[in-house]
Amino acid sequence: MTDRHFRTMGQQAERRSWAEPWKIKMVEPIRMTSREDRARALAEAGYNTFLLRSEDVYIDLLTDSGTGAMSDRQWAGMMLGDEAYAGSRNFYHLEDAVRTYYGYPHVVPTHQGRGAEHLMSRALISRGQFVPGNMYFTTTRLHQELAGGTFVDVIIDEAHDPTSLRPFKGNVDLDKLDGLIRREGAEKIAFMSLAGTVNMAGGQPVAMANVRALRELCDRYGVRIYLDATRMVENALFIQEREEGYRDTPIAAILKEFCSYTDGCWMSAKKDNLVNIGGWLAVRDAPLFDKLRNLVVVYEGLHTYGGMAGRDMEAVAIGIAESVEDDHVRARVGQVRYLGDLLLDWEIPIVVPVGGHAIFLDARRFYAHLAQDVFPAQTLAAELYLDSGVRAMERGIVSAGRDPKTGDHRRPKLELTRLAIPRRVYTQAHMDVVAEAVKAVHDAREGARGLRMVYEPSYLRFFQARFDPLP
Ligand SMILES: Cc1ncc(COP(=O)(O)O)c(C=O)c1O
Repeated sequence: MTDRHFRTMGQQAERRSWAEPWKIKMVEPIRMTSREDRARALAEAGYNTFLLRSEDVYIDLLTDSGTGAMSDRQWAGMMLGDEAYAGSRNFYHLEDAVRTYYGYPHVVPTHQGRGAEHLMSRALISRGQFVPGNMYFTTTRLHQELAGGTFVDVIIDEAHDPTSLRPFKGNVDLDKLDGLIRREGAEKIAFMSLAGTVNMAGGQPVAMANVRALRELCDRYGVRIYLDATRMVENALFIQEREEGYRDTPIAAILKEFCSYTDGCWMSAKKDNLVNIGGWLAVRDAPLFDKLRNLVVVYEGLHTYGGMAGRDMEAVAIGIAESVEDDHVRARVGQVRYLGDLLLDWEIPIVVPVGGHAIFLDARRFYAHLAQDVFPAQTLAAELYLDSGVRAMERGIVSAGRDPKTGDHRRPKLELTRLAIPRRVYTQAHMDVVAEAVKAVHDAREGARGLRMVYEPSYLRFFQARFDPLP
């Protein structure tokens, strides 16, 4: 007999355990590789986790984009694809779902989020204008720059501090925005680019009070607000949990109220909307809609499919309705938090508060001995893969790219390695394996030497850059 006592997750936290609101109907085998296999694969991939073959990955936390598991209802919907070139019935289902849950009247489908960003940027930005935003996102900013705009960061300062415990670190700093508008004049502001659960800040939410105040400020100057709604459902959960007056408000109602303060949105349906591919944009303004509906036929496809198959639009429409169910969102964010709590308990430096879709390891503190020029976050992603086959992604100096004017590296304050959790894919046991892998790499941190970039593509370099290990 042993006197050890095993305790469940809930018992350890002195509460009742919860479980995911789904059961598994189909499985995809994954396999663990040897360290030698992984060392070879990593060298072939130029120490960039984007260049690994997924077959060589054990637990894939590269991204939560397009990697979720669809429900039986979504798969059934795929069989109802109306693959007509024009006027597919699935488009009208998608349009209805967006109107019902997001509240915008005019909908344009696109192949994924960046297709929508491209069209919005072309339609809304004139050369020389500024685009204020609550922290940059890689593809969003690039499309804004390609359209002739200059992105200006107007997020609150605490967003750049991985240790600040402010509950809404995605908030817009209204004084920064007001200062920019006064300095440049309202006509030089293309629009306010607002994102829910700010990805690059660690998945940090925006408060309802902040978007309400933002609306008032923008109305004073006649500036429009467009929302990156990619992870807005997860943002709604943080409002429900943290903001006065929303505890009993369903996620769906919070989402709709938040959107009501904005003029439209773009969407990567591959995240919140629970599909493997797809996107859309939606606006209130009819003349703008005409312009976007015309642009979509040039770059994506006819305005009733925009690069998606009919079956994909059906899956998005069903996914939207599933995505706003309170139990789903709680379990999704709860799983991320479970992993975060383990790492925090073991004193591994991560961005706090834990965000909605991912754990962000703070590579600056993790590898305190490495300068930003030797790519600590990229190094950490490589070391984690080598140790355990867990695939993460760099979100630091490599992702930030170069300043288009000076050509120098942009040096973000946040040097992070992201462990993004796909929706409805992994179990608690997978999270335990990941946590132990991060701990092993942390225990061995003093041996890390950093990397040198040996190939750098012109756009979005983090996807395809190659590195060599430093001796
Ligand atoms: C916040 C945010 N906006 C936009 C996008 C772009 O979407 P997509 O990858 O579907 O082109 C992403 C994708 O990672 C994202 O995280």
